[in-house]
Amino acid sequence: MSRSNLSLGERDMDAMFHPTTHIQQHRAKGSKVFTRAEGIHIWDEQQNQYIEGMSGLWCTAVGYGEKELSDAAARQMDKLSYSHLFNGRSNEPAILLAEKLKEIAPVAVSKVFFGHSGSDANDTQIKLAWYYNNALGRPRKKKIISRQRSYHGVGFGSASMTGLASSHTGFDLPFAPFLRTRCPDYYREAEAGESEEAFCTRLAEELESLILSEDPDTIAAFIAEPLMGAGGVVVPPRGYFEKIQIVLDRYDILLIDDEVICGFGRTGKMFGAETFHMRPDTMSLAKALSSGYQPISAVLIPEEMYQAFLEASGSKGIFGHGFTYSGHPVCAAVALRNIELIQERGLVARAEHLGVHFQARLRGFSSHPLVGDARGVGLIGALELVADKKTKRAFSPKLAVGADLQARCEKFGLIVRALGDTIAFCPPLIITEAQIDEIFDRFGRALDETLAQFHHEIDGA
Ligand SMILES: Cc1ncc(COP(=O)(O)O)c(C=O)c1O
Repeated sequence: MSRSNLSLGERDMDAMFHPTTHIQQHRAKGSKVFTRAEGIHIWDEQQNQYIEGMSGLWCTAVGYGEKELSDAAARQMDKLSYSHLFNGRSNEPAILLAEKLKEIAPVAVSKVFFGHSGSDANDTQIKLAWYYNNALGRPRKKKIISRQRSYHGVGFGSASMTGLASSHTGFDLPFAPFLRTRCPDYYREAEAGESEEAFCTRLAEELESLILSEDPDTIAAFIAEPLMGAGGVVVPPRGYFEKIQIVLDRYDILLIDDEVICGFGRTGKMFGAETFHMRPDTMSLAKALSSGYQPISAVLIPEEMYQAFLEASGSKGIFGHGFTYSGHPVCAAVALRNIELIQERGLVARAEHLGVHFQARLRGFSSHPLVGDARGVGLIGALELVADKKTKRAFSPKLAVGADLQARCEKFGLIVRALGDTIAFCPPLIITEAQIDEIFDRFGRALDETLAQFHHEIDGA
């Protein structure tokens, strides 16, 4: 059969090896191919329209089809389509973007290092922390602590920091110098009767015990997403980061803030660090940095680290880390215009303001028989499905209840993401109040269908 007789979905199955996909299930289910998008809507090959309730992979902040961004890309391609940053070369969009990031960062930033994905930004963070401690004559200070269920990407280093088994199984990861501490999930991890404050105190104490048992002189950094995304949209309880930071400060441990999902307004402030009172030493940015229009990431470096690198270059020679596409002028031009649009259109304040309605509608499902926990902040949230609301008993993973609900949402024209049995919502920041209602109305219909499907699995049914 000639290829033109096949659907794009069939051709995809023939030619493509998909990232982060269950291969057998994919072969059974087939591919879903999207062909166009506008605003908060996206269409598949069969012309079905969906509300993109996940902003793609948590990235399309300004929505789809933004002409300002395609114009910025086209202008830059015509003017200077490529230029690199090696050996002191540079280009105007990368310089302007670095200045903009320094201006809006919630902490003092000395220099900006560019890459093209959240994973490479976090791999860069590891190398910077190691280089820094070598430069300071502390060669043992190399271990990095992350949290269970965190997601920091899929490079060898960033996957080693990621706290999800699927990033490790079969890949011989994580590597040795990476340690993990407890996830700040109050719903799942708190002991009976434990207050949020006591929970945070316990987590800080556990972190300190880990540091002491490993020897503080061997710990370089602690990496954290302000709000955990892929691990289930875990919102840290009030006071968590304040208590964690006291411990980090005590042992001179860097705080790496992974803002890849939270950055650029998602939580109702420009950065998640502001929402959750973090005082990071350094930050990783990607995704909404360009609203996903171009692949670009950034690492924000403080003066202290830069000075150490500067001094070290006398003896160590070239700083031998960087990518062909570091500071790519087209990516940088698009990212810069994207940040300007976020500012000009007041999308951060909008996320904070509309977040009130969004969170109220989300929490409206708390009384539903399937929903154990409703959580979120700004325009990001999640509902955790359980078999028993009282005991918080989870469904057997074999039932794939979350996947069932995700598929039913799609039937009603809504894209959400099942992270196991936790359903995530992360719509474009341009969403309106009426569209938020539409999301949750469609979701409610799908949730009731899932309830009917799994009614017999629920305790007390
Ligand atoms: C918090 C966080 N860090 C890092 C990454 C990795 O980013 P990328 O997929 O661009 O490599 C992600 C991706 O979802 C993420 O959510």
